[in-house]
This record gives sequence, structure tokens and C-alpha cells, in this order.
Amino acid sequence: MDRIATISDLREAARRKLPLPIFDFVDGAAFSEVTLRANTQDFERVRFRQRVLKDVSVRSLATTIVGQPTSMPAAISPTGLSGMLWGGNGEIAAARAAKAAGIPFTLGMMSVCTLEEVRAAVGPIWFQLCMLKDRGLVRSLVDSAREAECPVLVLTVTWTVSGLQSRSVRNGIDLPPKLSPRMVMDFASRPGWVWRAMRGKRVAFHNFVGRMDGEATIERVIGELDATTSWKDVEWLRSIWPGKLIIKGICDREDARSAMDAGADAVSVSNHGGNHLDSAASTISVLPDVVEGIDGRGEVLLDGGVRSGQDILKAMALGARGCLLGRAHLYGLAAGGEQGVAKALDIIRNELDVSVGLTGLTDVHQASRAILASSPF
Ligand SMILES: Cc1cc2nc3c(=O)[nH]c(=O)nc-3n(C[C@H](O)[C@H](O)[C@H](O)COP(=O)(O)O)c2cc1C
Repeated sequence: MDRIATISDLREAARRKLPLPIFDFVDGAAFSEVTLRANTQDFERVRFRQRVLKDVSVRSLATTIVGQPTSMPAAISPTGLSGMLWGGNGEIAAARAAKAAGIPFTLGMMSVCTLEEVRAAVGPIWFQLCMLKDRGLVRSLVDSAREAECPVLVLTVTWTVSGLQSRSVRNGIDLPPKLSPRMVMDFASRPGWVWRAMRGKRVAFHNFVGRMDGEATIERVIGELDATTSWKDVEWLRSIWPGKLIIKGICDREDARSAMDAGADAVSVSNHGGNHLDSAASTISVLPDVVEGIDGRGEVLLDGGVRSGQDILKAMALGARGCLLGRAHLYGLAAGGEQGVAKALDIIRNELDVSVGLTGLTDVHQASRAILASSPF
């Protein structure tokens, strides 16, 4: 970890540690990956105005997101099956690193480790779900989140229809998975990952085991995603969930208004990291539109393409309260488990701290368009 300076270095380390189909599961996105690339490239089009000699010797990054304290304006974004990146226990490793760094961790419903296991390891966490055809299943997950004292529920609305992950097709990943000679070679070339996987928890959607009649196979769980979902369902979820509610996947001002009308406390501007709708606009480019639509009625977060502390400050300058870290933490997890996620968070915190100081701020809350030299958005 000593020679790792950026999230991009962690991505290279992850590439060396993971069998190709697993690396591509993390690193790839839907169809031609236009949105995946746009999310990061558009951050580069925003530039800071450098300010000097303002006494920035004392700086603060601490804030709150939906009332939850965080040591910097970031939280871990929910990611399905990330447990498999680190011996079937990846979610626990990542949650431990997030806790040590003082930032919230969101467990995806499609995790390998269960909500109860991660809760037992680190205390209360945020929980994510998608609307499912079987509303009884949604209710039962919400009940578990309440029992686990989750302060925040994240409803993901970007995955009602599944995008095709083209790299998975090229790698011969089918549902159900079938082993090909090439895949055997890919896995054999990463013995560290294989050794951990063989000793660790079996990869499955364990939050669904025992909640569905019969086996909770990947096909059945994904088959539960409900394309009929509408704002009425969000209102229903609001009525059965007493805690904070974040709607993840708002990229449009009208949808932003609807989210507030349905009772959300915050939205995350998100295109699911380009994993489903390819050629969707980058998240940083639509952030100002969403901020206008929210009109101060709730908080606006952003996920998609966040790879540095500079990116977080840019998003805040354009009106975000903070960012959710998707691939940025997954590369760290794959590269070194808990230590790797801790490294990712250290890198981002240091970058953010330096950027705050050199744009003339002493508190991250002071970020506004005034710190930008140029932004096309
Ligand atoms: C491997 C992988 C799995 C993901 N699984 C989920 C999921 O189960 N639920 C969800 O809301 N978002 C999921 N996401 C999306 C992330 O929460 C986040 O929106 C996205 O990663 C942001 O883009 P970025 O990683 O390029 O920054 C996943 C992303 C990746 C890369």
C-alpha cells in the first residue's frame, strides 16, 4: 500500500489481485460504457480557482448527511456482491474501514454478508433496497432495517430494467454461471483471491436466504426488480419507514421535485455508475439541475465518477451536500480488504483537505461556485 498515491493506483492494484471476470464486474458498466467514462471525464472539465494567502492553517471537513455526522462529506455507496472481492466478507471489511474513518457505510440489499452480520461487526449502518415485485419481501427487509436500527434507508430507483454488462458477455459470464477453460485460467492466475474465496463465506444473496420460498438464486433475486415501480410506491415506502430516506438515482429536476413530494429527505444524483442506462448524462453535469429542482427542500448527494477529494469539492461547489463512493472504495477493497478501503478513504480525505485549503476555504461548508475557475455545468 506504501506506493499507492491515487484511486487510480488502487484500481491497478485491484486489477492485479482479481480474476478478470471479477475485476470487470467492478470496473465495467453497461453496453458501450459511455456513461461510465462521462462520469469521470466530466469531473475533469470543472476547474478550481486557486486562492492564496488567506490563513487556511485550520481546516474542517466534518459535516452531516441527513443529520448523520460524518468526518468528511462522503459515505460508502451500496454495491451488490462486493463481499466476494475479499473472501466473502468484503462488506464487513469495508464497513470496518468506513467506521474507523468516521463515515457512514451503506450496505446493499444484494450483499454477500447479511445486514445482521455487518450490524454485529460495526454497529448501525445505512441499508439500501430496490422496489421488488413481492412487496411483502420489501416490507420484511424494511422491518429488518428497523430492527438493526439503521438510521437511513436508501431506495435505488435506477435499476428497474437491467443494462447488459458487455464485459461479462465477453468474459463468458452466464446466469447461472458456467465454468469455461478460459475462466479457469483467469481464476488460477489469482491464487490469493481464490484462497480467500475458498476459505470465506459462500457468495450468495444472503439477505434473501430464508425470505424467499425456495432458493434465493441470482436469477430469482434479480427477477424481483420491479419495472412497474412508480412514485406511489415511494410514498408507500415512506409510510412504512420511520427513519431518513434517500432516493438514489435522481438526475432530473422534475424527478427531484417528485422525490421531495413523496417524502424523501435527500436524493443522490446517480446513474448507477453507468451500469444500466448507457449514454445517460454524467452525474456532475446534471447536478445543478437537480439542485434547482430540490430548491432547498432536502439534501442533494452525488455518486458516479467520484475518484478524488477534488471531485467531492467540485460536487459541493455545484450544490451537493456530499458524495457516495462506489468504485473508489471497491478498488481499495479488492486491493487490500479493510486496509485497502482505509487507504482509499485516506487518499480522498487528504486530497479534499488540500483542495479546501488551496481554494481559500477553512471549512468544507464554504464551498460554492466562487471556488471554481470554470465549469461547463
Ligand atoms: C460492482 C457494482 C455493484 C453495484 N451494486 C449496486 C447495488 O446493489 N445497489 C445500488 O444502489 N447501487 C449499486 N451500484 C452503484 C453504486 O452504488 C454507485 O451508484 C456507483 O458505483 C457510482 O459510480 P462510480 O462507482 O463510478 O463512482 C453498484 C456499482 C458497482 C460498480
